[in-house]
Amino acid sequence: STSSILICGGAGYIGSHMAQWLAERGHTVTVLDNLSTGHRGAVRWGRLIEADLMDPAGLKRAFSGQRFDAVMHFCARSLVGESVAEPYPYYSNNVTGTLNLLEAMRDHDVSQIVFSSTAAVFGNPISEAIDEEHPRSPINPYGASKLMAERFLADAAHAYGLRSVTLRYFNAAGALPEHGIGEAHACETHLIPNVLRAALGQGPALKVFGNDYDTADGTCVRDYVHVQDLAQAHALALGFMAREAGAHTFNLGNAQGFSVQEVIATAASVTGVQIPYDVAPRRAGDPARLVASSEKARRVLGWTPQWTALEPIIESAWRWHRDPPSWSPHHPHAHAHAPGQIA
Ligand code: UFG
Repeated sequence: STSSILICGGAGYIGSHMAQWLAERGHTVTVLDNLSTGHRGAVRWGRLIEADLMDPAGLKRAFSGQRFDAVMHFCARSLVGESVAEPYPYYSNNVTGTLNLLEAMRDHDVSQIVFSSTAAVFGNPISEAIDEEHPRSPINPYGASKLMAERFLADAAHAYGLRSVTLRYFNAAGALPEHGIGEAHACETHLIPNVLRAALGQGPALKVFGNDYDTADGTCVRDYVHVQDLAQAHALALGFMAREAGAHTFNLGNAQGFSVQEVIATAASVTGVQIPYDVAPRRAGDPARLVASSEKARRVLGWTPQWTALEPIIESAWRWHRDPPSWSPHHPHAHAHAPGQIA
């Protein structure tokens, strides 16, 4: 059956892929976004409500205008380094903003939410494959803010009967260039886009942050998961919440780690370009290795990731970065600081 879903943060990277997934399957999609880091041009499916989670009156208007069966909550500040330097906006947006959203849902009898969380709630992992029960011990404000919101959902399940699924992403990557969506951050810090822009001769010179970690080649190891596979997991979570009360949590990754050097080598083979880089000091807050166990998501949700190898993930991102749409800050004619962009 089809339903009406409010996608908060649907103008952003992962939220826009969610909108594509749901709309293609006949669901009614409404996007709520303040366009601080998202893009009007990325809202290609459904209506856009321009509103801010910090504005309860705007939220009230959004929920009063239409009935939603469930909410998906992708809005967040999400950069680890920035959160260390500027913690207050992380706590206001990710903690207070989430609380405002949950209160608006309660006021309007919307009782199901899928929440975007992160591997950053684990801090420095103490085991190889990180499952849902791994101790949560965030080492930066970003991870701490997401962990606090996870706690809201557990408390709200108990107190108000709110149904929720928290999905902790490892490293979201890839794009759907054939649908006109992909990663388009005005200020890009993520590895794969930085590597591909270096291959294009764009962006700042590529730096590898540390080659003296306790890993096979000394560079950090991450678990890259395609945004379309993340969208699939959210859609499965909708069905799961309809059957199961309570607050549930799943880790989403491919259970396979790749080092920064392996990412650069794979990107070189995808693009046919030798990609120059410099080794730089370690970046604050980077754990050596983050690899998910997603056994629970596969078993309980029936999640079956389609993008399990690194090469096609990078290839999809390459097709996107090679030919960005006019609204992307990476388009050759984009203004350096488009309105609504955080520099
Ligand atoms: N890296 C480089 N050079 C770059 C960019 C990144 O060497 O130009 C390295 C980083 O140091 C890290 C790896 O590449 O070792 C991956 O870095 P990303 O910034 O792409 O991703 P992170 O693993 O830092 O971040 C991701 C999510 C966060 C989440 C975090 C958990 O984007 O939301 O995992 O630690 F919090």
